[in-house]
Amino acid sequence: MSGRIRSEAFKSKVMSAHEAAALVENGWNIGFSGFTGSGYPKAFPEALAAIIDAAHSKGEELRVGVWTGASTAPELDGALARTGGISYRAPYQSDPEMRTAINKGVSYYQDIHLSHMGPQVSQGFLGKLNVAVIEVTAINEDGDLIPSSSVGMNRTYLDYADKVILEVNGWQSEGLYGMHDIYYPIGALPPNRVPLPIQAAGDRIGGKVLKVDPDKVIAIIETNAPDRNTPFKLLDDDSRAIANNLLDFLGNEVKQGRMPKNLLPLQSGVGNIANAVLAGLLDGPFENLTSYTEVIQDGMVDLLDSGKLTVASATAFSLSPKAAEKMNDNASHYAKKIVLRPQDVSNHPEAIRRMGVIACNGMIEADIYGNVNSTHVMGSRMQNGIGGSGDFTRNGWVSSFVTPSTAKGGAISCIVPMVNHVDHTEHDVQVIITEQGLADLRGMAPRQRAKLIIDNCAHPDFKEPLREYVKLAEKKANGMHTPHDLATALGWHVRFLETGTMVQ
Ligand code: COA
Repeated sequence: MSGRIRSEAFKSKVMSAHEAAALVENGWNIGFSGFTGSGYPKAFPEALAAIIDAAHSKGEELRVGVWTGASTAPELDGALARTGGISYRAPYQSDPEMRTAINKGVSYYQDIHLSHMGPQVSQGFLGKLNVAVIEVTAINEDGDLIPSSSVGMNRTYLDYADKVILEVNGWQSEGLYGMHDIYYPIGALPPNRVPLPIQAAGDRIGGKVLKVDPDKVIAIIETNAPDRNTPFKLLDDDSRAIANNLLDFLGNEVKQGRMPKNLLPLQSGVGNIANAVLAGLLDGPFENLTSYTEVIQDGMVDLLDSGKLTVASATAFSLSPKAAEKMNDNASHYAKKIVLRPQDVSNHPEAIRRMGVIACNGMIEADIYGNVNSTHVMGSRMQNGIGGSGDFTRNGWVSSFVTPSTAKGGAISCIVPMVNHVDHTEHDVQVIITEQGLADLRGMAPRQRAKLIIDNCAHPDFKEPLREYVKLAEKKANGMHTPHDLATALGWHVRFLETGTMVQ
């Protein structure tokens, strides 16, 4: 044993991943730890996948519901999705195999605001939680659990599951102890809820450990394996231009007296562009920054190292292998500057609104009136999910979205007449940024927005076609508030599906 299981009561429950996975029954719902590639169980899911494959090869039915914090990794989503054994998945994923299972109709997927997952589980909408499978760094003498590199839904799953399986991962740094802030009272239902006592990003309002009822623990698995840790794409000219546009905007907000000199707490979404924006801040003029966000990416760690960022609150890491190694070697140092919370606290609308968070998220496309699609490709296909973007966008002080102006080598315009799916409505979207420029939509009516978005954000190849669409829509529409020609509004997407390009 690794010495990470310090409670005598738990030692007798150690078994192999295969033995633990064999306890799962057809139709069970499993609440896994794991959030953006960190803190997910490393051995149990692959063992379960092998058992599902074996059952299916004998013609036996074995399918499970998979609930997580957010996206996981090939060893969890990938391994289980490949078997066809996931009947239902929530609340977020970004795995190619999982995406395929969803888009082929093999698995149902419910794409849920990440701050809503806890309340939905506690109210029983997703059914009974049969087992929680949670990765931890260690088990203390008194049976308390030291969380690993993500907190996500762990507290809720440990509380609500009938049974618990723990993976104790020796790869996770013991220096993580003290980084977490596990707030318990949040599960209360109205009218018994109390104000969330967070006023600044670094406030600590809970304890350092997760609690579990030892009688519910049916198995403990020991592992020693790294998190997913995907490298980010190298910064290119487009991502640098997007970051610079955002920095100029923030500088102007300070100049106009709408923000203090050290800005307001930053939220940065998932993905390469969001990480590039953080890299832009490293060279930017702002000091003493704070962050109240969901995920800590490489760019955030660099900002902490530079001293430009004083504190970062999140629910998980999403690091490259290099940054993860640095975090592991220096976790106790970073624990003074990083707070990892349950996702219904990291993404809590009340805290986000009170502190006035600057929300910045990636998107698939925006339309000329400012509606944003973060999730769907050409109407029907799921890319990842809404994640926490809605939590931050709806409640932020400034809500911005970033994307290159085109995708797929210029075949797709990310500014379109009408989005093929709406995740963030024109009422919530305040700023749209591409490498071409920035559209500040605050105070603008839909037709004013259309002109600004096309002029400032669309790629030159698509500006004239968009202007032509506006002219046509204004001629044909049954009203001039948000003019659309419904017969052609989604014609750009249809053209792409038929010809492989939106270019006319
Ligand atoms: N139409 C079709 N596909 C598009 C597209 C468009 N308008 N825009 C981008 N894509 C494709 C890209 O081509 C790429 O596909 P590939 O993986 O086959 O190469 C993929 O979407 C990802 O795009 P990329 O440019 O690499 O962007 P990204 O890594 O910054 O991710 C999102 C962008 C929108 C997918 C990502 O930000 C996301 O999932 N957002 C929703 C969740 C969220 O905002 N979470 C924040 C939580 S706080």
